[in-house]
Amino acid sequence: MRVSSWSKAILSCAGGVCVAVVLLCLAGFHAGAAQPLPASSDATLRQAGEARHIYIGTAAASRFLEEADYAAILGSEFSQLQAENEMKFGLIHPRPDSDANPYDFRGGDALVAFAQSHQMVVRGHTLVWHNQVPDWVKKGSYSSSQLAGVLQGHIHTVVTHYASKVYAWDVVNEAFNDDGSMRHTIWYDQPGIGAGPGTKYIEQVLRWAREADPSAKLFYNDYDAEEVNKKSDAIYEMVKDFRKRGVPIDGVGFQAHVSLKFDDPKKLESFAKNLERFAKLGVDLHITELDIRLNDSSATSLAAQAKLYGEITTLCVQQPACKVVQTWGFTDKHSWIPAFYKGQGWALPWDADYRKKPAYEAVRQALEK
Ligand code: G3I
Repeated sequence: MRVSSWSKAILSCAGGVCVAVVLLCLAGFHAGAAQPLPASSDATLRQAGEARHIYIGTAAASRFLEEADYAAILGSEFSQLQAENEMKFGLIHPRPDSDANPYDFRGGDALVAFAQSHQMVVRGHTLVWHNQVPDWVKKGSYSSSQLAGVLQGHIHTVVTHYASKVYAWDVVNEAFNDDGSMRHTIWYDQPGIGAGPGTKYIEQVLRWAREADPSAKLFYNDYDAEEVNKKSDAIYEMVKDFRKRGVPIDGVGFQAHVSLKFDDPKKLESFAKNLERFAKLGVDLHITELDIRLNDSSATSLAAQAKLYGEITTLCVQQPACKVVQTWGFTDKHSWIPAFYKGQGWALPWDADYRKKPAYEAVRQALEK
């Protein structure tokens, strides 16, 4: 093909264009992929949090400590851990008090030992909850006064066992319905511990916890109470009343189990407003069970997830009363989401192969901004 100068010109610029197209494609392709955010520093999340006086925590399970990657990340990236299940009533007190050996502290103790050997703090979860109550309690046909004895004994034994090892406890978890009414539970009214109406049983168990360890910070913890809504209003009124009457409560935990739908300026603004009103009551605020579930692990979803992880972390950084950003696990390999939300998952900052996801860098940047 005899190539005229024009055609040469076209060809060369065609050649140029080809190169450009290839480059663009490559860029485009890469733009498609979850661009790993440029590392703002080589600080660990723990270090970035310490600079902000914020504990970076995660839920953990003792059976995973023998996994090298799990232990390495847990012991280096986090300043706090919390037993995902092993300090709950059903697992730590599986047998009746009449049994020679009613308690099983092995899992909780293993996590505390790991934390201590990595200079991490431990947050306790949870003393009074409607879930994971052992059969010997549920089927024990206890009267209210007997049940009160069971619960006071449980709180005293568990809290004193971990005194000076656990710095804060979710004393009560998820006691309100979404409409702000009290959730019906064995501890409240089925038959309940006989403390009286409304939040009286919560007041009672907080007093028992304070007696057991006067130095532990006592929290109320719940989900779907991040925004200003009927549930957070009920929690707010309870905490306000308790603070006024000197009922021992030191903080509120916001679980923050969310999806990408939470990445809405109105929701984030409402979360900030909610944190601010609770802060004015003089309590500490903890984000206790953060995970952001996805429908897929596409680059776009991972990038959107990172954005929201950064925004929620920033809400804590901007609120002086917020002392903890804790995720509900840290690797997609060990997450409650897929079993609970069919078809969803990929909710945590590390993937199932313990590789950092864009969310990791987003949290670090939010802490370092
Ligand atoms: O211990 C038994 C084990 O013996 C048995 O072989 C196995 C098979 O079924 O089940 C094990 O118990 C499971 C337990 O986790 C310990 O792994 C329960 O079935 C399972 O339901 C339980 O799920 C936990 C769930 O709380 C219980 O409601 C999740 O791991 C845990 O992530 C989840 O955590 C809660 C927080 O405490 C409160 N906020 C919400 C959050 C998510 O639901």
